[in-house]
Amino acid sequence: MAARRSVAVLLKRSVVSAAKSPAQTRCISSSSSPRRKVAVLGAAGGIGQPLGLLMKLNPLVTDLSLYDIAGTPGVAADISHVDTTATVEGFAGEADLAKALKGCDLVIIPAGVPRKPGMTRDDLFKINAGIVKGLCTAIAEHCPGALVNMISNPVNSTVPIAAEVFKLHGTYDSRKLFGVTTLDVVRARTFYSVLKGLPVREVNVPVVGGHAGITILPLFSQASPKVQLTDEEIEALTKRTQDGGTEVVQAKAGKGSATLSMAYAGALFAEACLKGLNGVENIQCSYVASDITNLPFFSSKVRLGRNGVEEVLELGSLSDYEQKGLEALKEELQSSIQKGLDFVKPQHT
Ligand SMILES: NC(=O)c1ccc[n+]([C@@H]2O[C@H](COP(=O)([O-])OP(=O)(O)OC[C@H]3O[C@@H](n4cnc5c(N)ncnc54)[C@H](O)[C@@H]3O)[C@@H](O)[C@H]2O)c1
Repeated sequence: MAARRSVAVLLKRSVVSAAKSPAQTRCISSSSSPRRKVAVLGAAGGIGQPLGLLMKLNPLVTDLSLYDIAGTPGVAADISHVDTTATVEGFAGEADLAKALKGCDLVIIPAGVPRKPGMTRDDLFKINAGIVKGLCTAIAEHCPGALVNMISNPVNSTVPIAAEVFKLHGTYDSRKLFGVTTLDVVRARTFYSVLKGLPVREVNVPVVGGHAGITILPLFSQASPKVQLTDEEIEALTKRTQDGGTEVVQAKAGKGSATLSMAYAGALFAEACLKGLNGVENIQCSYVASDITNLPFFSSKVRLGRNGVEEVLELGSLSDYEQKGLEALKEELQSSIQKGLDFVKPQHT
């Protein structure tokens, strides 16, 4: 998908430009693009810091707003010295949240706690659900028209929470709310290309369903370039994609979850959204309000454009293995969605 290439080109270009004069470096930004303000909420965290840096490198961003409950002045000062065009402001603490959000076109939310060994899904849910509810209330009040990229886990529930909060405030537009599942796509591409010796830049693998365990369903039958995979290879690739988060949590041994690869994936998806807003339509996988299955939220390919989601694409033909995976994930995904809805509006049950 095109956005991936352009972030890579951008990073390369920035490195090359660093050897040139500051004036040349500043030319990276295209003066014909509209102003775009992007906020990162949770900007002092493991994901937030590298994501803030990657957004500062993106020429589509003109104003970068870095918000966290603490630590953002330092992060913002640090990132602001990078000689690219975007202005950078740091905001710390709830009293500054309105200023951080005002005028935003895109809000990216990696705020919350990551999964740690020994932590139950319920512990994680309770903390992050409350954080997301508070932040989305502020978005509804201060930048109701912004696109929202939800990274905070559990995404299967935090996206329905955001939708309910926006509905309560009368600001819900299903085209503007996204669960970021790009890391699943990035992992599927990487694992497929490494296994088959394919150039990763040419590889695409749609990943559908949700964003936890078996709800993550990579569609290797639709992967391109198409190469022959045995049943065992498909099973191994599928499981590794589904367990990618756990692989990192275990390797970090108590020191957090995927942050660097997530920041990369978050930056790819944010760029795809900004391109869409600027009229450059493109197709990405994302967890959105959907009617392509019987579940109210579902991840699939979506066409991004000026209004956010312009079209949710059908799943296409699935192999028997994928069809079984689809049936198997529905119960868990439905219950995670319900849990999110109930967190905001208990009468849903
Ligand atoms: N969608 C994905 O693919 C994906 C991948 C990895 C991690 N995650 C999730 O992203 C989230 C962040 O992970 P991390 O590793 O960066 O965690 P982290 O603990 O390093 O950072 C989280 C940051 O959020 C901040 N924060 C807490 N409450 C806040 C609030 N009310 N407002 C603003 N900021 C607040 C914290 O101060 C901290 O700086 C977790 O929920 C994690 O599970 C998602």
